[in-house]
This record gives sequence, structure tokens and C-alpha cells, in this order.
Amino acid sequence: MTKPSVLLARRLPPQVEARARASYDIIDNPEDRILAPAELAERAHACQAAALLVCTSEKVDAALLDSMPASLKVVATFSVGYDHIDVAACKARGIVATNTPDVLTDSTADTAMLLLLAAARRAYEGDSLVRAGGWKGWHTMMLLGVQPGGKRLGIYGMGRIGQALAQRARAFGMQIHYHNRSRLAPEQEAGAVYHDSPESLLRVSDFLCLNAPSSPATRGFLNAQRIELLPEGAIVVNTARGDLVVDEDLIAALQSGRLRAAGLDVFTNEPNLHPGYAGLPNTFLLPHLGSATIETRNAMGFTALDNIDAVLAGRSAPNALW
Ligand code: 8YV
Repeated sequence: MTKPSVLLARRLPPQVEARARASYDIIDNPEDRILAPAELAERAHACQAAALLVCTSEKVDAALLDSMPASLKVVATFSVGYDHIDVAACKARGIVATNTPDVLTDSTADTAMLLLLAAARRAYEGDSLVRAGGWKGWHTMMLLGVQPGGKRLGIYGMGRIGQALAQRARAFGMQIHYHNRSRLAPEQEAGAVYHDSPESLLRVSDFLCLNAPSSPATRGFLNAQRIELLPEGAIVVNTARGDLVVDEDLIAALQSGRLRAAGLDVFTNEPNLHPGYAGLPNTFLLPHLGSATIETRNAMGFTALDNIDAVLAGRSAPNALW
């Protein structure tokens, strides 16, 4: 019996591709080039794809779906975020859309903590000094940062990743505050202080971590007006999506010293981020590494395949988005 065809838009970790090949006819992308929508459609038609496995680099909109063969039953994204997928358009065409929640919670929360500490302790400046040979000796006032312990951490978006970050930050002695669309149950709150408006959260956030998905309601959230609500010298961390932030406003506040520092893993228009960030010594910047551990990337791939397996076997997908 011929196996169903699965189109991989990007290259995937070797163990994930091996499992995919064992179950399906795979059309892969060994050069890992980002394929234009027309190329994706051409490949999907050539193999009569039953499933399309994408990353956040592929925009799955109504036009792309309309260009796909009628054989397509499922679009599985290798990500928890799905702002690049028009779920309503998938639903309207009867195409299941799935994501990979849970498996990247820990690695993304670890990354948020890494950014928080790196921004607070001036890790970029210290590392640059050492590498450039500028470190001439120790002195008591050298590259002083600030301590997270005893400070208030404001978490904007208290889903799985926000809660995992709160757990880590507690171990550093931080007081947890949060805003979320709905208040958590007391056992999930674990003592965190709920703010029913983002503005109230901002006023107490010595450190502000953005952990909300990108949506029409959250895009452009951190603008000049809201930055003004933060305590003087606050530190901003973003592991969610770049478009939650108005780049020009954040850069201006970091330049003026109104904000002390920022740790950023995500940017608008990745990888062509706003050039203003790179010139700021008080930023610690990563190239979207939130889920970049071997364990997590394998788990994300296996989760995407579990979803495809379910749909192609006529079962409901564990992580269906509609
Ligand atoms: C992914 C992410 O690494 O899952 C998400 O939503 O942002 C990242 O963890 C990346 O987007 C892969 O598609």
C-alpha cells in the first residue's frame, strides 16, 4: 500500500525526519530554503500531499490554502505559536490545523530567565569586554548590575510558559505579579498577585516579561505610553513575539535610560530586526532560541507527527486548533 505524502516545508531534526520517513512518503527541503507560497503549492500538488508540516517561517493564509491540492487534510506547525496560521481559513476548508504546546514550556521559560539575568547583570557588556581585551583589572564599581531577588516580576500572559517562568523566578526570590485574560485558580497562582488590567501590572513591574501570544489584542502592546507606566529603570524581557513591542519606543527608552536594559529573543520581521537594538549595550539579544534545545526540538517534531498521524488515521488530533 502506498504511504500518504507529507510535505516538510523546512528541514527538521534528524530523529524527527527519520520517524516521518518510516511512516510517510516525505518531500523534504534538505537545503532548508524558505519556500515561496507558489513553490509550496507546486510541491504539494506534485506529491498530492495529505499533510503539510510548517514552521513559523511559513504563512498559512487563505491564498496558500486555496493553492493546495484537495488531498490536503492537515497543516501541522512545528511551534506553539500559530499567529502565522489562519485557523478560520483552515476550518472553512475542513483542513485540520495543529500546533505543539507543552513540550517547549520549560525551554522557553529557561530562556526568559536567561534573558532576565543577562539583562540585569550586563552579560553582553561583560562578555564583549573580555573578548575585546578591554578587561584591565577588577574594581569595586565595575559593570554593576541589579539583583532580581526581592524585585517585582510582572508577567504579561500567564499561560503555561508564564507559569513556568514564575516558578523559576520564585527560586530567585522575586515577587510575582501577573496579568492574564482570566485570573488563575489559587493553586496555579501559587501566591502571584493578579492585576485585572495591564496598566496596573506595568506600574509594579521592576522586571516585565512578555509571555502573551501575538494577536490583534496584544500587537503593539508595549508602546511609549505604556513604557511610561513602568518603574524608572525597569527591565524588559520578551520571549513571546516581537510584534508585542513597538521597536522605536523600546529603543528610545533604552537609549535614554528610562529603561535599564532589555533581554530579547524575538523581534518584528525576524531575522531583519530593527537595527537600533544592535547598537545598544544594555540589550542582550538572542536569535529566537526559546525552544532551541535538542530535547525540545525533537519533542516538537514528534508532537507535530503525532498530530499528523492522528488526522491521517481518522482520529482527532491531540493539538487541533479548531
Ligand atoms: C519555535 C516559537 O522555535 O513555538 C513557537 O511558537 O516561537 C519557537 O519556539 C519557532 O518558531 C519554530 O517554528
